[in-house]
Amino acid sequence: MKSFSIIVEKKINRFNKSIFVPGDKSCSIRYFFLASQAYGLSKAKGILESEDIFSTIKALTKLGVRIIKKNNTWFVWGNGLNSLKTKDNISIDCGNSGTLSRFILSILSTYPQKIKVYGDRSLNKRPMDRIMNPLEKLGAFFQTKKKVKRTLPCYITGSEMPIKIDHEEKIGSGQIKGGLILASLGCPGISTIKEFKNKQSRNHTEKMLKFAGADIIKIKKFKNYNLISIKGQKDFKAFNLNVGGDFSSASFFILLTLLSKNSRLKIKSVNLNPTRLGALKILKKMGGKITLQNIKFQCGERIGDITIKSSNLKPINCPASIVPLAIDEMPLIFLAASFANGISSFRGCGELEKKESPRLSLMNKMLVQIGIRTKLKDRDSIKIYGNPNLNLNNKIYKIKTSYDHRLSMVGIVLGLKLGGKIIVEDCHSIATSFPNFLNLMKQLGARYEIIK
Ligand code: S3P
Repeated sequence: MKSFSIIVEKKINRFNKSIFVPGDKSCSIRYFFLASQAYGLSKAKGILESEDIFSTIKALTKLGVRIIKKNNTWFVWGNGLNSLKTKDNISIDCGNSGTLSRFILSILSTYPQKIKVYGDRSLNKRPMDRIMNPLEKLGAFFQTKKKVKRTLPCYITGSEMPIKIDHEEKIGSGQIKGGLILASLGCPGISTIKEFKNKQSRNHTEKMLKFAGADIIKIKKFKNYNLISIKGQKDFKAFNLNVGGDFSSASFFILLTLLSKNSRLKIKSVNLNPTRLGALKILKKMGGKITLQNIKFQCGERIGDITIKSSNLKPINCPASIVPLAIDEMPLIFLAASFANGISSFRGCGELEKKESPRLSLMNKMLVQIGIRTKLKDRDSIKIYGNPNLNLNNKIYKIKTSYDHRLSMVGIVLGLKLGGKIIVEDCHSIATSFPNFLNLMKQLGARYEIIK
């Protein structure tokens, strides 16, 4: 896709609207993976149609899975476990998607062919030891350029006789937990993943597998951890799914409404899985007027509407344990703290440096650039000295986003809050997760210019 920047020169006027955001990215990717491992024809509605999802579909199609879309429904023909058509020397392009890369390596770990897996410039810099180490214990073999701090591209040769997994998830990563659940499906016996309570991550893989009716996964709750057990090499049947809206996408609109004057917004049918709602908790603690309505369960997930009203935000001392539950929304939370009346502090943010860009460092740069005082420590914690009266005095600000979709959207929210002249670079990256973001912003009354 061709690169373009966005110029925002005008604050958004007050608005009172109701919108839908597109389907949840994590659930959409998991649908294609789990349906490809199920037996029979699975169907899903509400699937996100973004670059990361198209990369997932292409990757699985290359491995022999039949996937088509007809009248808003995505059909996947699954042939059960161990049915992928792997051949030596094929290569899989994961594009920009960390989730796809960790999941594809996991699923390939029980196939004995040598397969190349690679990503784009941003993905090829992201850490892969976190998934390669546990998959090596199962019997998979990896060839990478570097021997330490391994990254993509890599060659994976899976094991014909994998050993069951017993893993302690210490990072708090939903991608690693989800990947290892997928790998466990192909291993004999009962694999276990221990998930510590202060490092709890999104649990969509567990929920979707349970919803598929597979008597495969069990979760035992202990005082300090959850123990996830997965019965491997046990086929399960195809399933029909309806995916709710993506809370991470909704959060850009939540923050814009909180920061805008005299505005109100309803975002309908959003996935409200508690393991995704860290940002909601943080923003409510900061005084954000956010309420949830019409909560129901749909295909094993909690879905509902979110109503947001303009608010005066207070600072927060944010505990580290909530960060994994708000991992993709932290850049927005830092922006919220910049407009709060006082000093906010955040710890345990090191994982942000390992995302599509080093998000903690780049957010720090963005805030300092617009005149917010911050203190960044050890690339892990940050203090933000909020200023509710920040004014840009009509200067031009060029926001660098390092081809990170979420930073581009944060930059645009910032421009719509402050006016001035904000130029957000590399906005084509938004298509990886939220292709209709700009159109939805327009519906609320946002004005911007695209420069190619
Ligand atoms: C995701 C998990 C998160 C998140 C990513 C999607 C997933 O990554 O940042 O956007 O679908 O499991 P980590 O689990 O590595 O923190």
